Amino acid sequence: MKVVETLSDLRRARAALEEPVGLVPTMGFLHEGHLSLARRARQECRNVVVSIFVNPTQFGPSEDLGAYPRDLPRDLGLLAGAGVDLVWTPSPADVYPPGFQTWVTVEGLAQGLEGERRPGHFRGVATVVTKLFLAVQPQHAYVGQKDAQQAAVIRRMAVDLNFPVDVVVCPTVREPDGLAMSSRNSYLDPQERRAAPVLFRALEAARRAHAAGEHDADRLRQAMGAVLAEEPRANVQYVSVADPDTLEEIHGPAARALFSLAVFIGKTRLIDNLVVGG
Ligand code: PAJ
Repeated sequence: MKVVETLSDLRRARAALEEPVGLVPTMGFLHEGHLSLARRARQECRNVVVSIFVNPTQFGPSEDLGAYPRDLPRDLGLLAGAGVDLVWTPSPADVYPPGFQTWVTVEGLAQGLEGERRPGHFRGVATVVTKLFLAVQPQHAYVGQKDAQQAAVIRRMAVDLNFPVDVVVCPTVREPDGLAMSSRNSYLDPQERRAAPVLFRALEAARRAHAAGEHDADRLRQAMGAVLAEEPRANVQYVSVADPDTLEEIHGPAARALFSLAVFIGKTRLIDNLVVGG
């Protein structure tokens, strides 16, 4: 496995790779969720490239950029074990040259849900992923359903900008108690960690209600809210039942739906989602 830092080294190493090339963009502090994307890429591509870059422009001023967990030696060991061919660990200066002022913004899809609560977040994501696509020139890119809106934004952006990249969305990997794996789970203290699976329990309650025939979006939101209300450490930011394609909030019947939520457990903001109805 080759590890490169500068853009010129990345370009040289990329030019030597046989295609198809699969790219897995990450911010590091890797877990099984990230590794599942790398393994899927390993199955489908001749060469697998993983980027590790804690992208400053997708963090809001009061968010956790400074605290974001990092452990490059451990990450590199995990990626070598997953059979990755090339790892790119650019510095902020490689990605954002002095005087930077060119941005990629996706409109409708990026506006609700996470976009509404994290202004500028998807502008940062779409811009950095554009730059990763331009530098690595992958045929396939692997992203997680865990970040459903991010996956939709990246898909839209790839189509709109005519990137010849097939964006593959991979299932959410969970801990045995249902908690979706996330680098941010490392912020949880033991009591918070015990409280955190309430997100999945809320989603499961709505899934069960939906399967039992309850399709009214308001009642499905209530079903999630009722479970979350039982956990004193959970401070709900939003609970959503939205159209899985447009991400617009549903009012009335929801035959197909994206159930999603953002919840603070102590100071840690967690998100999760499920799609129902195929
Ligand atoms: P990061 O949070 O490191 O996640 C990298 C990729 O792993 C994303 O596509 C994310 O959806 C996926 N992922 C995270 N947790 C997962 C889980 N439990 N199961 C399956 N996939 C999971 O998302 C980002 O980084 C950044 O926004 C990035 C796309 C790299 C742009 O900076």
